[in-house]
Amino acid sequence: MIRGKNIWIIGASEGMGRALAQKLAPSNRLALSARNKKRLDELAKSFETRLDVEVLPLDVQKAAEVTKAAEHLAKSWDQIDLVIYLAGIYDPAPLENIDVKTFEQTLDINTTGAFRVLKALQKPLFKQGFGQVAVVASVAGYHGLPKGGAYGVSKAALIHLTEILNTEWGAKGLQVQVINPGFVRTRLTDKNTFDMPFLLEPTEAADHIIKGLESGSFEVHFPKQFTFMLKSLGLLPYWLFNKVMAKVNEKGKI
Ligand SMILES: NC(=O)c1ccc[n+]([C@@H]2O[C@H](COP(=O)([O-])OP(=O)(O)OC[C@H]3O[C@@H](n4cnc5c(N)ncnc54)[C@H](OP(=O)(O)O)[C@@H]3O)[C@@H](O)[C@H]2O)c1
Repeated sequence: MIRGKNIWIIGASEGMGRALAQKLAPSNRLALSARNKKRLDELAKSFETRLDVEVLPLDVQKAAEVTKAAEHLAKSWDQIDLVIYLAGIYDPAPLENIDVKTFEQTLDINTTGAFRVLKALQKPLFKQGFGQVAVVASVAGYHGLPKGGAYGVSKAALIHLTEILNTEWGAKGLQVQVINPGFVRTRLTDKNTFDMPFLLEPTEAADHIIKGLESGSFEVHFPKQFTFMLKSLGLLPYWLFNKVMAKVNEKGKI
């Protein structure tokens, strides 16, 4: 059970981050971040029972805002127990339809944003010598899937980043986890025009995430029927993988 912890949720205004905040608020002290202050304020006010909650609006693309929030928490909290990074954007399209600006912005928010947050926390986390860092990537980062676009690239890089941090920061006493959800009904996936297999509600996804955070496993992935199927694609030799992907591209779905 996660209780009595100081938890910073980045990407708390909507979707899975919002659902996570709602579940963690009653028994933990929370800091909630995203760009939309109004949505964060509404959320903070909606908690009937809570230990403590603070709204820290920021844009993860702005290093100064990220640093200011991290420094504030390092000063005002006696320790930082858990940081959950969920900030992300998604533009489903084949790469031919994605312009360079969108590509850059996707990588900047989904991947570099996580690095900005973690770099801003490095000093206090190393100093305390413990703490848990969980980064929400995606099963879209497992393989190069057609229409995975900039999003798939950003999430593959994010998984790679957490693999490195798990070793390097693990040696400093920190626990680094990567969370790879399948499809979850949020404003991101509302853009999808295809049938999404094993679609979860944000509150169900939040339950999986909390269970995964408690388990301490490096990778937290769900729903298993879908994630194991996608993982198994990685066992194929490229000639076969590419044939399967060509079929997926043709059919427009997995
Ligand atoms: N939904 C899915 O099926 C699914 C599957 C796998 C992984 N994921 C990942 O899970 C995470 C949460 O996604 P979601 O589906 O819950 O989407 P969502 O409802 O759109 O939530 C995304 C969150 O990121 C915040 N955000 C976006 N850009 C930001 C920025 N520049 N600075 C600070 N915060 C920013 C948004 O808040 P503001 O707009 O207020 O800034 C929002 O709180 C994302 O990383 C997504 O890629 C989602």
